[in-house]
Amino acid sequence: MSDSKTNVSIDNSGVDPQNNFSLNPTFAAIVEGRMARRRFLKGSVGAAVAAIIGGPLVACSSSDGEPTPVVPPVNDAPLLGFTAVPAGRADTVQVPAGYTATAFLPWGTPLAGNYPPFLADATNSGAEQEQQVGMHHDGMHFFPIDTRSAGDNSTEGLLVFNHEYIDHNLIHPNGIDTVPRIADQVRKEVAAHGVTVAHIQQQADGSWALVNNSPFNRRITGATPMELSGPVRGSSKVITKYSPDGSRTRGTLNNCGNGFTPWGTYLTCEENWAGYFVNADAEQPREHSRYGVSSSNGRYFWETATPAADVYQRFNAASTGASAAEDYRNEPNTFGWIVEIDPFNPDSVPQKRTALGRFGHEGIIFGKLEEGKPVVLYSGDDSTFEYIYKFVSAAPYYKNTAGGHLLNDGTLYVARFNEDGSGDWLALDINNTDFVAKAASAGVTFTDQADVLLNTRLAADVAGATKMDRPEWGAVHPDTGEVYFTLTNNSRRTEQQTDAANPRAANTTGHIIRWHERETQSATTFDWDIFLLAGDVGTETPDTELVLTADNHLASPDGLWFDKNGLLWIQTDMSGSQQGEGPFGNNQMLVADPVTRQMKRFLVGPTDCEVTGISATPDMKTLFVNIQHPGDRSTPAEFTSHWPDGGTSRPRSATVVITKDDGGVIGS
Ligand code: FEO
Ligand code: CA
Ligand code: CA
Repeated sequence: MSDSKTNVSIDNSGVDPQNNFSLNPTFAAIVEGRMARRRFLKGSVGAAVAAIIGGPLVACSSSDGEPTPVVPPVNDAPLLGFTAVPAGRADTVQVPAGYTATAFLPWGTPLAGNYPPFLADATNSGAEQEQQVGMHHDGMHFFPIDTRSAGDNSTEGLLVFNHEYIDHNLIHPNGIDTVPRIADQVRKEVAAHGVTVAHIQQQADGSWALVNNSPFNRRITGATPMELSGPVRGSSKVITKYSPDGSRTRGTLNNCGNGFTPWGTYLTCEENWAGYFVNADAEQPREHSRYGVSSSNGRYFWETATPAADVYQRFNAASTGASAAEDYRNEPNTFGWIVEIDPFNPDSVPQKRTALGRFGHEGIIFGKLEEGKPVVLYSGDDSTFEYIYKFVSAAPYYKNTAGGHLLNDGTLYVARFNEDGSGDWLALDINNTDFVAKAASAGVTFTDQADVLLNTRLAADVAGATKMDRPEWGAVHPDTGEVYFTLTNNSRRTEQQTDAANPRAANTTGHIIRWHERETQSATTFDWDIFLLAGDVGTETPDTELVLTADNHLASPDGLWFDKNGLLWIQTDMSGSQQGEGPFGNNQMLVADPVTRQMKRFLVGPTDCEVTGISATPDMKTLFVNIQHPGDRSTPAEFTSHWPDGGTSRPRSATVVITKDDGGVIGS
C-alpha cells in the first residue's frame, strides 16, 4: 500500500472472472444430432393441464400443493393480449399501451421520513447513505404485510431488494481517481451495497408510497453484522480477527439475484464478491484463487481507506504471519454464500447459509414444495464455464414447522447434462463414496464437509459437472415443477467446446435451458431440453416452432420469474456495446407462455441500464421491476442517461411500479 496518491483505473463493472480451468468434458466429439425433442415435453404436465382448461396457460398451485385458480383477467382480457413494445433506445421505460410505469424508491431515497434528504449532486455522506436506499437495484421480492398469517394483502407489504454494486462516477460528485481512498467515500460505497427493506403502501389514487419511519424500514449493508450457519460455522478457515470462533462476519456484497422462502424470509445472493478482496501473498489458498481474488487490489480499493479502519482493512486478505485470529486471511471465505434475512424482524441477524455452497450465486429458487418431503433449491454460478447446483434438505418440509433450520443440513449436488437429454445430479458430499473416489483420482483432498463447501467450485470440477454458458437466474413452474435457467452468454466457448446443453460456439446471445426432475423434485436424475435460443430476428430454436421476430428478439437473458398465471418473465442484461451497436436496442423484459413458446416484449428500459429483479402483488395487479445502472457509461461531467428524474439530472437506479390502466391483471 502506497502513502502517495496514485492515479488508478477503476473497474466499475460487475464483470465475471473466468476461473474454471478444470478439464471437464464438453462432449465435442458427440454433438451430431443434438437436441432431439426431449420426451418429457410430450408428456408435460403443463401441456396436459392446458388441454383440460382449453388454453395454453396452466393453472398454478399454491406452495402447499393445493390448486389455485388462474387470476381472472379484467374484461376477459386474454393473457399475452397486449401489443408488443418495439425494441428501442429511448431514455425512458416503455411498456405496452394501456399500462403505466412509474419510478419508485430510487437510489438515495431516505428511509426515515424525509431525512436524510437525497442530494442531487451526490454529496450525501457515508452516514447518510446508511439511512438511504442503496445503489444498483437487483433481485427483489414483495412480501404482503400479512405474510406471516398466510395472508395475501395486495395493497401493503415489505418490498425487499438487492443493491448489486456501485458506480464511482455517479455515487460521488466527481468520481474518484486516487488511492489511498478517502474513508468516508468508502463508507458510502459499502453502505450503498446490500439490501433495502421498504414498508410500502398503495394510496387511494392507486400510486405506491413508502411508509415513512416504519419500524420495518431497514438497510442491510456491506458492513452489517451477520452469522455463519450450517457446516462451515466454526471452521478453522473462517476464523478472523473479528470472529476468532468462526461464527460471524460483516456484510453482504454484490447481491445479484434473490429468492424467498415458504416461511416468509428473503434470500440474497453473493455473486461477484471475490473482486472486493486482495491477497498479494506469493501463493493464494485455493479458497481464494479458484474464485478470482485479486493479487493486486480490490475492485474499489476499499482496503486502502484512510484513515485506516478495521472494517475496511479486512478487504486485504494477506496473511500477516500471525495466527488467523489476528488478521483477515480468511475474510473472503465468509463471502460467496446465500444469506437469509427476516424482513419482519428488524433486529434479526442475517444468516449465511453455508450448506448451499460457496460460489458466484446469481439467484436461488425453491423447487415445488411437497409436505413431508425435503425442500429443494436451485442456484447458478454466474461465471464463464461454471455450474448449476441443487440443494436437498436432510429434514422434510412441513408447512407448520418450516424455517431456516432446513437450510443448514442437506446434500449439495451439481448438474451434469448428458448428450441424450438426460441429466444427473452429482453429490458434493464427503460421505459419498463416488465423490470421494473422484476427488482421490484427481489428487484433491477435502478434510471435511466444511472444506468441500468452502471449495464448492473445485468439488464440482472433480465431480465432473457440465460447464455452462454463465448460469444466471432460475425459475420453477409452480404447477409442473419444471425448472428453467437462463444461460446469459459465453463468447469464449469454442466449436470444440460445444455440447448439447451449450450448443453454440461464441455464444454472444445466450439461451434458456429447462429440465424436469424424474419422479420427485429431490430426484438425482432429470430430463432436459433447450427452451429458447436467444438472438436476432429469424433465430430458430431447433426442434421447436419458435422463430424470433421483431416482437421478441433478445440477447443475454438474465432475470427469470414465473408469475402465478404461469407466464415466464425474461429480463435481459446485454453489455453496453451489445445495446449500442446490435439490433436489440436497450435492455428489456419479455414474457412467454412456456407451453406454446408465444413470447412478446413487455418493457424496454432507459439508456445504458439493465432490467433485473421482478415481483408482484398477489392479485397480479401491481408489478415491481428494477432498473439497474441507467447511464452506466456516464462520466462525472456527462451523464448518458437522466432517468428517472429527467432534465440534466444524475441517473439513479430505481424500482418501477407497473399497473394496468383498466385495473387489470399484468400480462393481459
Ligand atoms: Fe449480477 Fe449475473 O448478474
Ligand atoms: Ca444478473
Ligand atoms: Ca448478467
